[in-house]
Amino acid sequence: MLLLVFGAFLRLSCILVASGASCYCSSVVIPVHVDVLVPKDPTDKFGGLKSNARSVRRVNNTFNISGTFCQPSNPVSAQNPNLDVLQLLVHGLTYNSQYWSPPVEEFRNYSYAAFSCDRGLASLAMDSLGVGSSSRPGNASDVQCPTSAAAISQVARYLKTASILPGVGPFNKIIGVGHSAGSAMLTFGAIVEGSQSPFDGLILSGLLIVEPCSIPDPPGLASAREDTPARWGALDPGYVTTSNRTLYYPADPRSFSPRMMVFDNFIRGRGVHYTGPVAKVMGSADQQFCGAGRCEDVAALTAAERVAWPAAKSFNIAVTQGSGHDLNLDFMADVSFQTFVNFVDLFSSL
Ligand SMILES: *[C@@H]1O[C@H](CO)[C@@H](O)[C@H](O)[C@H]1NC(C)=O
Ligand SMILES: *[C@@H]1O[C@H](CO)[C@@H](O)[C@H](O)[C@H]1NC(C)=O
Ligand SMILES: *[C@@H]1O[C@H](CO)[C@@H](O)[C@H](O)[C@H]1NC(C)=O
Ligand SMILES: *[C@@H]1O[C@H](CO)[C@@H](O)[C@H](O)[C@H]1NC(C)=O
Ligand SMILES: *[C@@H]1O[C@H](CO)[C@@H](O)[C@H](O)[C@H]1NC(C)=O
Repeated sequence: MLLLVFGAFLRLSCILVASGASCYCSSVVIPVHVDVLVPKDPTDKFGGLKSNARSVRRVNNTFNISGTFCQPSNPVSAQNPNLDVLQLLVHGLTYNSQYWSPPVEEFRNYSYAAFSCDRGLASLAMDSLGVGSSSRPGNASDVQCPTSAAAISQVARYLKTASILPGVGPFNKIIGVGHSAGSAMLTFGAIVEGSQSPFDGLILSGLLIVEPCSIPDPPGLASAREDTPARWGALDPGYVTTSNRTLYYPADPRSFSPRMMVFDNFIRGRGVHYTGPVAKVMGSADQQFCGAGRCEDVAALTAAERVAWPAAKSFNIAVTQGSGHDLNLDFMADVSFQTFVNFVDLFSSL
């Protein structure tokens, strides 16, 4: 796989304040060049990893990836300022970058971007390919695991080699922090890139993949153009959304490709040779992954999941008691947030 990064440009017009005086946030757009092979059959559960040359096709394109960058506005007064490290935050299916800073209670309580910023850590919450303000390829079947994962890795490479804002970066270390399908995309990238991964650590929340599993379709998953014709009427019908936000309140609905769900089971039969440190963070009440008391015995769960990461420098699982699948959006959010920060600090020091 050939991967190149082109130059970045900025949109400085949008300045947000996430958590009061201590955090400075700004929109950024990073163009990434992705050159990957995707399976011709978008339902391929291995994302093309097990395909032969005839059953894959090439996607060679440049995409704009948008996101919200946040950093402590006064690093000196922040706890534990660490301006060498950037967290790249990757949301899950039917969400966008706002998962990391949902506009609820004036952005307090549920904003991991603000929480970590207050603790001296910068972050970039990105919109995945095809989602939110990032490029939405005309043909949804271009948005598959290889494309999305490569775009994420290219963003990380860019952040390590260039400055995204005057006086900001490049960063020495990039820690990938994923939720659900975002964790799956980071995992896919780790499978493909192994020791060449640009990530210095991975924190994967809301996803277990060693046992037979898949991310179930959200309730009412439907073609975005049928769901909201006024907004998405022109989209390829392969882009989907869900109007039933029962399980996902308060994030805004956004379109996403069902091809993004082509990730279950793909590490079975193909080891991950990622060599950095890995942590998984689960909610004990995650109905999709932790049913039947599956996340009660953390030692057993860790042993089972660790098998998938044979080359990882370290592997840990932390379980937030009482949290559901969307760990960031319930009353225990700050417990998971502290867990994330602890892992980021640990991984940054390795
Ligand atoms: C891939 O895209 C790049 C940049 O657009 C272009 O220079 C290159 O020729 C393309 N490669 C192929 C094989 O099409
Ligand atoms: C990225 O955004 C810039 C500025 O809006 C635009 O000029 C460029 O064509 C976009 N590139 C892609 C690949 O969409
Ligand atoms: C949300 O944050 C505010 C301000 O920090 C606090 O007073 C309030 O108790 C928090 N609410 C919840 C549900 O945690
Ligand atoms: C999308 O691309 C695939 C693969 O090239 C092609 O088979 C399909 O017809 C395209 N769909 C549309 C709507 O153009
Ligand atoms: C939304 O989905 C939930 C299950 O997750 C279901 O209980 C509820 O009835 C659904 N609401 C609508 C309006 O379809």
